[in-house]
Amino acid sequence: MAIRRIGRYETTDVGGEMVRAFVPHSLPPSNPRLDIAGELAERVQAAEQALRRLDVAGTMVPALDWFIYAFVRKEAVLSSQIEGTQATLMDLLSYEAHHETEATPPSLDVEEVCNYLDALAFCRSQLSDPSGLPLSIRLLNEAHRLLLRGARGGNKLPGEVRRSQNWIGGSRPGNAAFVPPPHTMVGELLSDLEHYIHGQHVHGDEVLPPIVRIGLIHVQFETIHPYLDGNGRIGRLLITLLLERWALLQSPILYLSLFLKRHRQEYYLRLDAVRAAGDWEGWLTFFLDGVATTADEAVSTATDLFALVAEDRTRLLEKEGVNILALQLFERLPEHPIVTARWVVERFGSTLPTAGRAIEALEDVGVLVETTGRKRDRIYAYRAYLNRLKDGTEP
Ligand SMILES: Nc1ncnc2c1ncn2[C@@H]1O[C@H](COP(=O)(O)OP(=O)(O)OP(=O)(O)O)[C@@H](O)[C@H]1O
Ligand SMILES: [Mg+2]
Repeated sequence: MAIRRIGRYETTDVGGEMVRAFVPHSLPPSNPRLDIAGELAERVQAAEQALRRLDVAGTMVPALDWFIYAFVRKEAVLSSQIEGTQATLMDLLSYEAHHETEATPPSLDVEEVCNYLDALAFCRSQLSDPSGLPLSIRLLNEAHRLLLRGARGGNKLPGEVRRSQNWIGGSRPGNAAFVPPPHTMVGELLSDLEHYIHGQHVHGDEVLPPIVRIGLIHVQFETIHPYLDGNGRIGRLLITLLLERWALLQSPILYLSLFLKRHRQEYYLRLDAVRAAGDWEGWLTFFLDGVATTADEAVSTATDLFALVAEDRTRLLEKEGVNILALQLFERLPEHPIVTARWVVERFGSTLPTAGRAIEALEDVGVLVETTGRKRDRIYAYRAYLNRLKDGTEP
């Protein structure tokens, strides 16, 4: 591995203590420049192929929306668990099943996950609107504002880059594992990064593959650590947005959070090695592996879910005397796998007894399972579907 300098240290005074803050050079890596050859080139290819398989798995399906919905929620739960949030997929879905009809406030954990979902949806709608914000630091700041809204993030400057020195690991900057750049330089560093995102990406004579650029951008973002909190979540959101923006995927169905959660130790070590030794190759190997593995997993989850829904639909259609509401409700379950009778009433404008019969029909064919054991306020889940979906999301 080539030793490459990717930045310099700047000594700053933090509350009377002199600390060495790291200031990264602008992308792309130079001296020596990145050589995508040999094993690394193979990994780039493998990652690109896996992404294409995933994209095809997505486009072959007429109604992709429902599993995107589920994947997005899975991503939100996982991404928030890295930060230490304890909400599970089940918590989130039960909250969503209820909050449309009842005024229960979400727990803090669920609130955080919902914030993540709002941030992702906000960015995607801006990017698809010709008069919306472009992929920019301003967009990320707005996403950050949504992400840190509410109880926990309130004092962490939601929507704004930091105005003070931060650090990673340790109890103060002086004994930290890593001290990001001084806050006075964050604006300029972010604007450089934005240029790199929008520039020609010319690297010597060649252009780096988009998936490689996304890997570089993620590290650069984490190294700048522009916010007081939420840098990991915004950095992962940026990966998702870039994949779609640069047409590697047509929908946000690749979620790296699960991989980064499973390999958190290595993730942090790889980030450190880029900074300490300029080991971009090591990071990229890890990152590209993550992309390929995650894409393959998503293809198999998608395939399983579709098979399950198709089988269940057949069973339901074969059931004698099944009412139309049961069929309609079934078609909604993939994007709403946890339901209550009241939810059905509100959603379909039916009477309570009709809703009850539809739920019963779905229970009879083994699609819905009652989860509370209560006599009242019962909650029903599309359990087989959730079991497949929640792989990896329960701590
Ligand atoms: N040694 C390091 N060098 C650079 N970045 C790091 C290092 N260690 C961790 N990070 C990044 O910092 C993130 C955590 O920062 P922060 O707490 O601001 O983000 P978060 O979104 O609140 O947390 P999380 O990523 O744990 O969900 C990690 O996800 C990782 O991307
Ligand atoms: Mg944090």
